[in-house]
Amino acid sequence: MAASPLAGARVVLGVTGGIAAYKSVELLRRLTEAGAEVEVVLTESATRFVAPLTFTALSGRTAQTDLFGSSDPIPHTRLGQWADLVVVAPATANLLGRLASGLADDLLTNVLLATRAPVVVACAMHTEMWEQPSVQRNLETLRRDGHRCIDPEKGRLAGGDEGLGRMAEPVTIVEVCEDVLSGGDRDLAGCRIVVTAGGTREPIDPVRFVGNRSTGKMGHTVAEEASRRGAQVVLVTTQPDSAPAGVETVPVETAEEMAREVLERFADVDAVVMAAAVADFRPAETAAGKLKKQDGPPSIVLEPTTDILAELGRTKARQILVGFAAETERVPEAGVAKVEAKNLDLLVANLVGVDDSGFGTDTNRAWLCRPGRDAESLGLTTKAAIATAICDDLAEASKGHPAGEWSSSTR
Ligand code: CTP
Repeated sequence: MAASPLAGARVVLGVTGGIAAYKSVELLRRLTEAGAEVEVVLTESATRFVAPLTFTALSGRTAQTDLFGSSDPIPHTRLGQWADLVVVAPATANLLGRLASGLADDLLTNVLLATRAPVVVACAMHTEMWEQPSVQRNLETLRRDGHRCIDPEKGRLAGGDEGLGRMAEPVTIVEVCEDVLSGGDRDLAGCRIVVTAGGTREPIDPVRFVGNRSTGKMGHTVAEEASRRGAQVVLVTTQPDSAPAGVETVPVETAEEMAREVLERFADVDAVVMAAAVADFRPAETAAGKLKKQDGPPSIVLEPTTDILAELGRTKARQILVGFAAETERVPEAGVAKVEAKNLDLLVANLVGVDDSGFGTDTNRAWLCRPGRDAESLGLTTKAAIATAICDDLAEASKGHPAGEWSSSTR
């Protein structure tokens, strides 16, 4: 087994005042077990949840809490310059706000300003706080500044409430830290990318829908790979529960919701990867009440949805557009035709309807189709390899173009 990138790494673990602070003890244990040297910095309110002594005993180094109180006259610059990585877990709404604004009013925020090391923040707070526009704005700023933000998960919260807000599990945070530390190939740093994933569900009545077999695996793999390579990714998915950690996720159900979330972001992004299986048609009407068996077989009239990718192709300026096509025959020819028809930069054409390729499998028989060129066969390949190929094309397109100034015309 390859050594963890945490082996020998110098890590500052920042702990802020949330109930999830108790999980930071396990995080510290996992970081040290992976071979990291860890210095712990607690905010004043974190010490109300867990005693510094617990961290000191586990790390073998005195946990720090005070900018002025220790024998070290300038602990923040010492720690900031020493660190290979700073991870804040849990990160409260207050910490996110201070970090996003460049404020430094305690030891931890001073360390965060005094470091050039990558920063990972594992957010944790009550659902209402998480959903505040101000908090989401701060998060957006932090992501734009290159920090790696791990969204909270759904689960039990302080006071017995249930909902989105619980800090990601320590094992997930460790994985993200390893990923950040091993990120030599951050060739998508500064790129803003929207990725769609999963099959849309078009409601017939309050309990039934028209759907498809997509599991979201392909789109989630692209989102994870692009994020690992430094892109700022927004994942618009119908399968948020299996979304990769550390990627901003927007849950949607229908083609209309997906179209809205993608189109409203389009002007501000460098690329869109449409891996979702979007319904081409939806029921023209959704019954307000559940359809009853005794009323006999219903006839469901369908109407077309917006073809999101075609709409993006019609209106794109500098953005790179990547589409997918599921075909049962003449795959490369159909793929090349769709590239032209939808004004795309890349289309991954997949064979469907066989056992080893298509929905829910780990492998695909795929072709890469680009404008004005013959399709490139990838043979029987993995979804991870397809994600890598897509990100390679995106990185190639971004070369020589500062973030936000891509131009497909120079490709
Ligand atoms: N797509 C989309 N909006 C839709 C339908 C599809 O953005 N309403 C996108 C998919 O995400 C995919 C691409 O279009 O990236 C190709 O979809 P596909 O269904 O394979 O092809 P279509 O162009 O819809 O043509 P057909 O189904 O007739 O093969």
